Amino acid sequence: MSLYQATASAPVNIACIKYWGKRDTKLILPTNSSLSVTLDQDHLRSTTTSRADPSFSEDKLWLNGKLDEIKPGGRLWTCISEMKRMRKEVEDQKPNEPKLSAMHVHICSHNNFPTAAGLASSASGFAALVSSLAALYKLPASPSTLSLIARQGSGSACRSLFGGFVAWEMGSSPDGSDSLAVEVAPRDHWPEIHALICVVSDDKKGTSSTSGMQRTVETSALLQHRIKHVVPERMRAISAAIKEKNFDAFARITMQDSNQFHAVALDTDPPIFYMNDVSRAIIALVTEYNRVSVEAGGKLKAAYTYDAGPNAVIYTPQENVKEIVDMVVKYFPQAQPFKDPFGLFKGAGVQGGVVEGFNTAVAKQFEVGAVKTLIHTRVGDGPRVLGEEEALLGANGLPK
Ligand code: DP6
Repeated sequence: MSLYQATASAPVNIACIKYWGKRDTKLILPTNSSLSVTLDQDHLRSTTTSRADPSFSEDKLWLNGKLDEIKPGGRLWTCISEMKRMRKEVEDQKPNEPKLSAMHVHICSHNNFPTAAGLASSASGFAALVSSLAALYKLPASPSTLSLIARQGSGSACRSLFGGFVAWEMGSSPDGSDSLAVEVAPRDHWPEIHALICVVSDDKKGTSSTSGMQRTVETSALLQHRIKHVVPERMRAISAAIKEKNFDAFARITMQDSNQFHAVALDTDPPIFYMNDVSRAIIALVTEYNRVSVEAGGKLKAAYTYDAGPNAVIYTPQENVKEIVDMVVKYFPQAQPFKDPFGLFKGAGVQGGVVEGFNTAVAKQFEVGAVKTLIHTRVGDGPRVLGEEEALLGANGLPK
């Protein structure tokens, strides 16, 4: 008897132009287009194994070892149903194909980064789910077509179907058929873009993206201005900056858009605060670091961006990462040594320090643990189909 099983991994993405607001909450259709950088799966990824078997009595999904509920009409259910529908189309055209669309599936998913890190895992998670089912079902679907389905799991997930620099075009059709991800440029176009994720300690339970953005849509006048008059031009300008590898323009737009996203959160009634004192201190450091460069006749060297939480992601060309790690560690002493996956410090350890001319008074030094971890990664590739040896389900169809 054949084994119908496939395993895939998918990356995390961090937006430069933020998605915030839905015009259709069921289909997950956004109020504006967005654009992100896909991060390297060698460092951060979700891996998912899907298996179809006539002996399975229901669809089941395990996330990080725990059985998850697949609620009828819910996001997981929608994605799985849509993938089965596409499989059925293949079977209708090729009558010799096994009828996998009629079988139940077991799905096992795992993130290689702890949920406690406060990094959104829904984007990589839904992208890996859709990619593993597409491999299992041998669908002849493009990443853009698969992005239509991942989008219905979590909006930002549609952008994780591509590597490199990715736009989610909002579309205009009420059925969502043109609200999909497209590649702006592949990773190899601009592989020098690196990212430093500052995982900021956070003890309070924040407002989820899903409910926060809905409140913003209902109450913020500033959001309407952003949608109509700001994002369309920024999408054009940042796409051009990426194509020209113009980091100065890329950085300026990225920081402006992060700031405006947090401004519309503040403009929501009641207001939503995602950044904290540590987040704001990191903004001050990056701003001062850039000022020193610009005043010496240079360009912007780093860009911060923040999602629906206090963590900072700093984009920078590879050549600046060492200076930035030194700067962050000086203000935010680390309990654990910096992992240094690219060998910047050649095993010597991070001393901490700032570039010449830097005004050290722009921020105070925080206590150990204010920034819990620093993750150094870079722009990465799109979903990967993995071999049998990477499968997360055992011979019995249960998590290994
Ligand atoms: C701030 O994709 O998590 O990270 O579609 O409701 O699942 P849902 O929301 P989600 O929102 C992400 C918001 C953001 C910005 C972005 O990634 O573009």
